[in-house]
Amino acid sequence: MKIGNKNYQSIWIDDGDPSVVKVIDQQKLPFFFEIKELRSVDDVFTAIEDMTVRGAPLIGTAGAYGIYLATLEINSQTNIREHLSNAARYLISCRPTAINLSWAVKKVMDRLKDEHSPMELTKKALAAANEICEEEKENCRQIGKHGLKLIEDISLEKGGAPVNILTHCNAGWLACIDYGTVTAPIYLAHEKGIAVHVWVDETRPRNQGAKLTAYELGQNKIPYTLIPDNTGGHLMQQKLVDIVIVGSDRTTRTGDVANKIGTYLKALAAYDNNIPFYCALPSSSIDFSISDGVKEIIVEERNPEEVTHITGLAGGEILSVRICPEGTVAANYGFDITPARLVTGLITEKGICKATEKDIKKMFSYKIN
Ligand code: MRU
Repeated sequence: MKIGNKNYQSIWIDDGDPSVVKVIDQQKLPFFFEIKELRSVDDVFTAIEDMTVRGAPLIGTAGAYGIYLATLEINSQTNIREHLSNAARYLISCRPTAINLSWAVKKVMDRLKDEHSPMELTKKALAAANEICEEEKENCRQIGKHGLKLIEDISLEKGGAPVNILTHCNAGWLACIDYGTVTAPIYLAHEKGIAVHVWVDETRPRNQGAKLTAYELGQNKIPYTLIPDNTGGHLMQQKLVDIVIVGSDRTTRTGDVANKIGTYLKALAAYDNNIPFYCALPSSSIDFSISDGVKEIIVEERNPEEVTHITGLAGGEILSVRICPEGTVAANYGFDITPARLVTGLITEKGICKATEKDIKKMFSYKIN
């Protein structure tokens, strides 16, 4: 996507020095546009943990490049197998909910399993990570094409009046390397001249909606309105939302969707108001091994300080301020699970399917052994 006149992805290998992975620092947006260099497994771990990089497809791709960087750390003293499996375990442990991280790290590790020469390991790891990166971009492009149809249909029904889309968190190009999952259909609709307007949930505690989705939509001249997380239900009752589209960090083979905390409440409100609730996701976010999202998906718990404090721009500096009495005990669950029965459909790179085991199986039979 373009920032100013320049095309960016949210992760890439440095042109001049292939031992450097570059990322856009999402902790600094929308206030400062800064690029960070990742040169080691530790750098990748920290960037994922502190959310310099975030969003399921992006953390998966970052993890894949992390294994590539691990191969560059090999020297004559290294026990290669031990070193690589430790790096894989370490990276996967970083954020537990999004399946993309373990999926991508395992995919790269699998490519390396019969290789022993450090040079070949590096070559293969880089090729596998680049492949994942390209695949995720292409997945988003396809999700865009399939999701566009939903927006087009609503626009037709409304006689061309703006289609009001509500989204939660950031499932845009920053989270997905390029295009985004939720945003790809929106960008395509806008390009096609279809009037759209996005209700952007601020997405406490880290405000990915306010900071990142608002930034992306603004850069792409998509009309949007920022709303506190509690506003969605009211807007839906007032018929001011035509469709809800969210992303996913892990979806079960039965269609239960784990996404940013607060998504479930939007799904309940959409259900009660008969508003279509779609989840846009690449198949790398589907965990075909599990069937009960509430029981089986591990929900990440993050530092309570993200709840007790809020971060923003003050006097040209990014500052954090406390918003509650000192010593307040806070809980910070990163994700929640929306049961499949509340999900109208899944927009995937292969098309739109119902959030049911039967339909998911049919669409992705080639991925299920
Ligand atoms: O904690 P984050 O910011 O990494 O969580 C990301 C999300 O939950 C997004 O909403 C998203 O839908 C999944 S990534 C496309």
